[in-house]
Amino acid sequence: MEVIIKPDADAVSKEAAALFQRQLAQKPASVLGLATGSTPLGLYRELVHRHRDGHADFAHATTFNLDEYVGLSGDHPMSYRAYMRENLFAHINVRTDHTYLPDGQATDIAVHCEDYEDAIRHAGGIDLQLLGIGSDGHIGFNEPSSSLSSRTRLKTLTPRTIADNARFFGSEDAVPRHVITMGVGTIMEARQIIVLAHGSGKAAAVAAMVEGPITASVPASILQMHAKCALIIDEAAAAQLQRAGYYRWVYDHKPQWQRA
Ligand code: PGA
Repeated sequence: MEVIIKPDADAVSKEAAALFQRQLAQKPASVLGLATGSTPLGLYRELVHRHRDGHADFAHATTFNLDEYVGLSGDHPMSYRAYMRENLFAHINVRTDHTYLPDGQATDIAVHCEDYEDAIRHAGGIDLQLLGIGSDGHIGFNEPSSSLSSRTRLKTLTPRTIADNARFFGSEDAVPRHVITMGVGTIMEARQIIVLAHGSGKAAAVAAMVEGPITASVPASILQMHAKCALIIDEAAAAQLQRAGYYRWVYDHKPQWQRA
């Protein structure tokens, strides 16, 4: 795994935006895996700017989001469909019928999850998958103890994730208990993965992911097995890494042709 330590969250967003820009330039019909939460907001703002400046064309792209809350319709203001519309889709030229999220109101969730997997396959698989990391080490909503080969399915949130996400809903009671999430196995099939994190609240999860053992107790740790995964973090999120000096050294010596 490549570990890129940037001075602040803004620099993290710009580095990630450069990777998305390069991906779209190299393959206009890219299949992009997208994430929600606080972490990608700066990246999405940056992508909207780059789109307006003519540097990021989404006309031929297809997107698949990681997850959605069960019970919320796409019109519900706290749904991830609404989040994506507000923060990205409404401001770029992606075709709405090329933007996929799990349907939180699917009547048969098991069948819907299989259909979601089929849609990813049918699109040719995910070229570039964006991830955040939960303070408990989750990716998507694959909470600790998730099977490391899991597929898209229903999950029950941990009390910690409910507490973390209460800020979006106003109270813990209002946070749905269930979600549909791409599985760890689904995520691992993406050709390239970038994980973003900023802030001291993520430092322990980041250290466990990068330098700890691979374990279902920290689902993000499976990314150590991915052949093309970059972690882009700020100084605060890097604070508990033992080998931060080495990661900086590697990045400083990265050949020009490997840079975005
Ligand atoms: P956050 O969530 O970006 O809101 O911190 C990250 C995650 O839960 O994956």
